[in-house]
Amino acid sequence: MPKTPLQCKVNGRPWSGTVLPNLRLLDFLRDVLGLTGTKEGCGEGECGACTVLFDGKAVDSCLLLAAEADGHEVVTIEGLTPRGQLDPLQEAFIEEGAVQCGYCIPGMILSAKALLMENPEPNEFDIQRALAGNLCRCTGYAKIITAVQKAAGREGASRAPAACCEPLEHPAGTPCPCLPPFQLETPDTLERALDILDQQGQRAQVLAGGTDLLVAMQDDHRSAPGVVLSLMKLEPQLRYIRQEGDRIHIGPLATYTDVIESSLLREGAPLLVLAASEVGSLQIRNRGTLAGNIATASPSGDTLPALYCLGAEVVVRSRKGERALAIEDGFLGPKQHAFRPEEMVVEIRFPCPPPGTKDFFYKVGPRRAQAITKVTVAGHFALENDRVKQCRLALGAVAPTVVRAKHTEQLLTGQLLSNPLIEQASQQVKEECSPIDDIRSESWYRREMVGTLLRRGLRSLVDPSVSPCRVFPE
Ligand SMILES: Cc1cc2nc3c(=O)[nH]c(=O)nc-3n(C[C@H](O)[C@H](O)[C@H](O)COP(=O)(O)OP(=O)(O)OC[C@H]3O[C@@H](n4cnc5c(N)ncnc54)[C@H](O)[C@@H]3O)c2cc1C
Ligand code: FES
Ligand code: FES
Repeated sequence: MPKTPLQCKVNGRPWSGTVLPNLRLLDFLRDVLGLTGTKEGCGEGECGACTVLFDGKAVDSCLLLAAEADGHEVVTIEGLTPRGQLDPLQEAFIEEGAVQCGYCIPGMILSAKALLMENPEPNEFDIQRALAGNLCRCTGYAKIITAVQKAAGREGASRAPAACCEPLEHPAGTPCPCLPPFQLETPDTLERALDILDQQGQRAQVLAGGTDLLVAMQDDHRSAPGVVLSLMKLEPQLRYIRQEGDRIHIGPLATYTDVIESSLLREGAPLLVLAASEVGSLQIRNRGTLAGNIATASPSGDTLPALYCLGAEVVVRSRKGERALAIEDGFLGPKQHAFRPEEMVVEIRFPCPPPGTKDFFYKVGPRRAQAITKVTVAGHFALENDRVKQCRLALGAVAPTVVRAKHTEQLLTGQLLSNPLIEQASQQVKEECSPIDDIRSESWYRREMVGTLLRRGLRSLVDPSVSPCRVFPE
C-alpha cells in the first residue's frame, strides 16, 4: 500500500514524512512518535481516552486518519508540559485528587483545556457538557469537575499550550494499523472528487468527519471500502453556512460545532441548533457533519427530524449533473439513502423560517449525552394568537426512516391550541409511527413516548414554563 505524505505540527514541533493511509492519528502519535500519553480505550469515539487538540479543538484521535493531520496542529498531553512545568489544570487535578487510574485523565485534561481556551469562566453545566465525551469508569467525576473549576481561575489555564520549535524525531516504532487497507484519495477540487466517485462507483466511500465511517471500518473489515475519498483538502470550499436570498445554505463539511456556533442559524433556524447540540459529545460534534448524518441514513440521526421540519433539500452532484431532493425523499430505509454511489452531497439548504416561528425538540436516550436516540419528536410552528397557521412535525427512531406526522399536522392546522386539541393530537400521533423492538427500546414504549413528547411540545408553544428542548433522562 503506497504511503501518503504528512506534514503537521505536534506539540508545536514540525513533523514531515509519510504514513500508511490506514494509520489512525492515535496510532501515529503512540507508535510513530512515541507519545504514549494518548490512550486507546474503546477505539470508537465513546470513551474520550484518545482525546487530543486538533487546531485547538478536542477530537477523538481514534476517529481520524493520521493523513488528515496534514497541514494541522495537534497537541497531546505531553504538549501541556513542554518545559517540564505542569499546566494549571494538571496541578488542580493533583490537588483535588481527581487523578485516579491515569488512563482516562490525559483525555479529560485535554477536553478541559479546550473548554478553558474557549471559555475561561465555565459554569458547572459547561464543564459537564465539555467532559461528556470522556468516560471515567471509576466514577471520579465530582473531583474532576471541582479540579476544572479550580483551574479556571488560575493564571495560564486558558492560554494555548506553549510552542516548541525543534523538529520532532522519528522514533523507533513500527505502527500496526487496525483499519483494513484501502486506497486513500485526497482530491483538491470537487471535480476531481466527482471523477473518482464516477470511476470507482460502489468501491469508493466519501470520508467527511469519519465519526460513522471509521467506526464502521474498524468494526467490520470485510465491508470496508476499497477507496476512501477524503474531502480534507476541500474544506475551504465545502465548509460554510450562509444565507443567499431567502434560503440558508450549508456546505457538506460544516460540522455540528459550526452549526451550534453559527449566529445565522441561532437566529434563523434554532431548531437545527437544538438538534446539533444534542449529538454525541464535544469531540463528535467537532468532527461530525450534517452531510454525514444524512448520508448515514439512520432513522435515529438527530438532525434529520429538524431538517424535515425546516423543509430542507439535499443537493447531490455527480459527473452527470446536480439534483436537489426533498429531504423526505432522501431515504429508502434504515441505512439506505436515495443517492447513487457516484453522487456526493454538496449542499443542504432550506428556506429561512419566517420571524416568530416556534420550535420544539425532544430526544429520549439511555443517558444524557453520547446517546443514540430511542425516540425523537421535533416540531416547527407558525402561530397567530395561539392558533396554528402552519406546522410540521417529524418523528425519529420510530419507523424505518424519519417520518412526518402529516395527519396530526392536518388536525392541528387552523386550530386553536386548546387542551382538548393537544390531547387529541397526542393520541393521533401515536398512529403515525411504526416503531420496532430493538436493543435500545421496545415498540410500545416508543409509541407512548411519541404521544407524551408531542403533548409536551404543544404545551411549550403556549406555556413559557414548559421547555421547548429536552433530552431525557434529564
Ligand atoms: C461516539 C459517537 C456518538 C454519536 N452520537 C450521535 C448522536 O447522538 N446523534 C447522531 O445523530 N449521530 C451520532 N453519531 C453518529 C455520527 O457522529 C453522525 O452520523 C455524523 O453526522 C456523521 O458525520 P461524519 O461527517 O462523521 O460522517 P462520516 O463518518 O465521514 O461519513 C458517514 C457516511 O456518510 C457518507 N458521507 C459523508 N459525507 C458525504 C457526502 N458529502 N456525500 C456523500 N456521502 C457522504 C460517508 O461515505 C459514510 O458512508 C455518533 C457517533 C459516534 C462515534
Ligand atoms: S479510544 Fe475511546 S474515544 Fe477513542
Ligand atoms: S479516573 Fe480513570 S476511570 Fe476514573
